[in-house]
Amino acid sequence: MRSKIVAGNWKMNKTLAETNVLLSELTGKLPDTTAEVMVAPTFVNLAAAVQDVSASSIQVIAQNMHFAENGAYTGEISADMLLDIGVDTVIIGHSERRAYFGETDAILAKKVVAALAKNLRVVFCFGEELEDRKTDNHFKLVAEQLKNGLFQLDASAWSKIVLAYEPVWAIGTGETASPEQAQEMHAFIRKTIANQYNTEIADSVSILYGGSVKPANAKEIFSKEDVDGGLIGGAALNADDFIAIISAI
Ligand code: PGA
Repeated sequence: MRSKIVAGNWKMNKTLAETNVLLSELTGKLPDTTAEVMVAPTFVNLAAAVQDVSASSIQVIAQNMHFAENGAYTGEISADMLLDIGVDTVIIGHSERRAYFGETDAILAKKVVAALAKNLRVVFCFGEELEDRKTDNHFKLVAEQLKNGLFQLDASAWSKIVLAYEPVWAIGTGETASPEQAQEMHAFIRKTIANQYNTEIADSVSILYGGSVKPANAKEIFSKEDVDGGLIGGAALNADDFIAIISAI
């Protein structure tokens, strides 16, 4: 059975002191759940965060990494550096990385390969822009992102992949995909993977929805058959909201 996952992407938010406070609130209030709970603080606070959650089931994950093993890449972070501080999962392909930092499908494919080579787990993000949805191009675009980013992988690699479908028009906008829109796309994603690989892989990969998930809409979105959890931005910055979203699963 595929895992249920609630992951908080803190983006460029929270100082060290704020990170400690939020994690202490989260570990203190974490509901009893079979879902995996992940948080992705900024790089500089990852090591502290790992210590903060060491007595709990919360996993600390990274927001990004570079594809090179090491070398002259000023400002970048390698897979080994993450592993070294106890981080074994990384988000790759977030729409903000694609839009603001020029990360193309080709770059992302290299990052995925580099992460998997080090046995990191990957939360791979993708999703269409508003224009794609308006012009009815969203299924085609999502299929292309999957193909370009992930379909070079061997079937065996998929046990380390988590997908996060995040329609760009719903991220940080307060506008969320309806539960039906999320379900429709998630089912399409699963079908596309089944066609490329097989139904066993398609049925075992967790597909998270991301884009303005809040306590008020989480339960309905998570109730959909092919939605296995969420990647949460804004609402993950507040302990009570994030806890409420975890409880909704
Ligand atoms: P949001 O962000 O929940 O603030 O819309 C989601 C994300 O970017 O992963």
